[in-house]
Amino acid sequence: MKRIVVLASGAGSNLRALLGADLGGEIVLVVSDRPGAGALALAAAAGVATRVVAAADLPDRAAWDAALTDAVAAAEPDLVVLAGFMRILSGGFVRRFPTLNVHPSLLPAFPGATAVADALAWGVKVTGCTVHFVDQLVDSGPVVAQQAVPVEPDDTPEVLHERIKAVEHTLLPACVALACADRLAVDGRHVKVMSECAGSA
Ligand code: GRF
Repeated sequence: MKRIVVLASGAGSNLRALLGADLGGEIVLVVSDRPGAGALALAAAAGVATRVVAAADLPDRAAWDAALTDAVAAAEPDLVVLAGFMRILSGGFVRRFPTLNVHPSLLPAFPGATAVADALAWGVKVTGCTVHFVDQLVDSGPVVAQQAVPVEPDDTPEVLHERIKAVEHTLLPACVALACADRLAVDGRHVKVMSECAGSA
């Protein structure tokens, strides 16, 4: 079984989806930068170990990077999954741990923390979600999978975000399962999904 560490800052609906899915791997630790994150309560209720690495508890950015890296490394993960983690990871972290992120837009459109509101403000008719490997830049790494979501005329950011999250809740677990089965091959910007036979060979 692959060992998965999930990083989450928020309510944790994607974590809930991961906890309920057949991933072919075990979530061994959930780490948050926010002591009150709903994701921590979800993890605890599921019997998963939790850690908080809060910037406010550490003197500077380098100390936070080191504390996060140490906490994650102690769990010996094969894969790290960002499920609504709102801080940027250091280059050292993403080089050390293969890391997947889920983002609520069709990247490279609308990167950043306000992706859903930005898509609405732009007036697009279709947006969606992207699962990608994480590199040193924000929302820029190789794309694993994307799924489109229509924008409806009366959408608010909240309503549209909920429609996107409903799609994320199947797309992210599916991508994590592919990673756990060693079926994702990264070649530069391109991610190839290998057949089941190739992955298990
Ligand atoms: C998701 O929309 C994800 O794409 C983004 O943050 C949100 C997290 O939501 N990165 P939740 O905490 O999983 O409910």
